[in-house]
Amino acid sequence: MTIDGAILAAGFGTRMASPIPKVESVVLGETLVSYPWRALLSLGPRLGTIHVVVRPEGFLRNPGLVDPSGQEPALVVQQVMDGTWGAVEAVATSDRFLGGKATHLLVVNGDGPLLDEGLLEQFAVLGEAHPGFLCLATAELSDPRGYGRIIRNVDGEVVDIREESRASEEEKRIREVNAGIYLIPRDILLSAVAKIPPDPVKKERFLTTLVSRVVSGGGAVHTFPMTPECMLGVNTQEELARVTALLRERINRCHMERGVTLWDPSRTDIGPKVEIGAGTVIMPQTVLEGKTRVGPSCRIGMGVHLADTVVGSGVTVRDFVVATESRLGDGSVVGPFSHLRPGTDLGEESHLGNFVETKKTVVGAKSKVNHLSYIGDAEIGSNTNIGAGTITCNYDGYDKHRTWIGSGVFVGSDTQVVAPVRIGDRAVIAAGSTVTTDVPDDALLLSRAPQEIRPEGGVRYHRRREKRSEGKNGRSAPKKKEIE
Ligand code: UD1
Ligand code: MG
Repeated sequence: MTIDGAILAAGFGTRMASPIPKVESVVLGETLVSYPWRALLSLGPRLGTIHVVVRPEGFLRNPGLVDPSGQEPALVVQQVMDGTWGAVEAVATSDRFLGGKATHLLVVNGDGPLLDEGLLEQFAVLGEAHPGFLCLATAELSDPRGYGRIIRNVDGEVVDIREESRASEEEKRIREVNAGIYLIPRDILLSAVAKIPPDPVKKERFLTTLVSRVVSGGGAVHTFPMTPECMLGVNTQEELARVTALLRERINRCHMERGVTLWDPSRTDIGPKVEIGAGTVIMPQTVLEGKTRVGPSCRIGMGVHLADTVVGSGVTVRDFVVATESRLGDGSVVGPFSHLRPGTDLGEESHLGNFVETKKTVVGAKSKVNHLSYIGDAEIGSNTNIGAGTITCNYDGYDKHRTWIGSGVFVGSDTQVVAPVRIGDRAVIAAGSTVTTDVPDDALLLSRAPQEIRPEGGVRYHRRREKRSEGKNGRSAPKKKEIE
């Protein structure tokens, strides 16, 4: 049995009332359509191609359909938005499907992110046990509104699926609904091409009409019961929020079972691909997304946002840190209020402190950039101390330039390093310097404007101010000479 997957993702989702196509809505940092994609990938060796049905203009943003083993989605364009059967028919008539060896097509809606991975596997096993049957997943819902109802005959056999728009009052009371997951044998699929008429009310060709067609042709339909929690679809913003909450709960429960402490799981958003080591404690309002990996025994503060970031073990991320595509070495300490832009690589036990912004910057082991700095396009060795307010001037208005700062260096506060420039090992830069030339190893660089002391100058200044304010209060303004 070889199963091709099909994700129906061409509908715009008008009930969402948003300019963003429904399946591109983001749930815990990943697009809606990427959830069924990952669930299908879990079919492993049984899986052939995954076809993704899209609108003629394709996806507006990168949908994140990535497979670690290299499978690429086979995009199939549905030229006319004429319903879910139109989408399936586009796959059934595509060269990729017709030229492939798939014995079955496993169809899933692109708007159902709660499918969990083991579930599709069980569904495939059911299909193997019932070759030649059209298999579909169903669930009992306390509130079945909006879903297609499963119509069974007196013997309990499925004979039809009735969409809400066509259901009688009695049918609307049926609580068994169509989950939108179907395993269709190749011959059933191909025999239905161009044979499914549009629904008289909605004028769309419904995939669900395939059921009555199979039954009337003497075929059989097998159902696979699943829990309501796994099948909820997203048609409205409210449903998007509901499935996000369910996914959040499911993902967070998984991490807690593996020894992660979440102060408040209802207020911690962790994406489906994120990995976290045991003994790590995460405070509320924190978001971990993308391919973020957090090692064991870390402490992640409040309001932290990590995207595609790798955090080593024993790392402290204090409150309100934002990091994207960065690496935080073992034992490093970051924040509060630090902004790590892509390409930041912090060495073991390094420190990055308050109001520090970094970009494409390597900070060596045990080095410190503790206060109010911008360090961009730079490489800093180990055991170096970067003083408060240090700025790498990496951009001359035309190009970006790099800064190299060696190991064991002491950079005094309020230093500007005008790139490209190289500061050697163990060099000392005096506070307030503007570094425009390379500094050799072990040298001291001092660049300051000359200073002047005028004794009693302060007294004269304050006297001048007093006189001026007397003038403003109605008295005659002092003459210039008087003041001097
Ligand atoms: C569908 C089912 C319903 C089921 C429910 C489960 C049909 C007719 N109805 O209803 O029985 O209970 O899912 O969630 O299938 N799409 C396309 N091209 C189109 C139209 C839709 O690719 O022309 C895609 C959508 O992007 C979406 C999926 O198909 O991902 C389902 O479409 P949707 O409009 O959400 O169907 P439902 O009304 O939810
Ligand atoms: Mg839907």
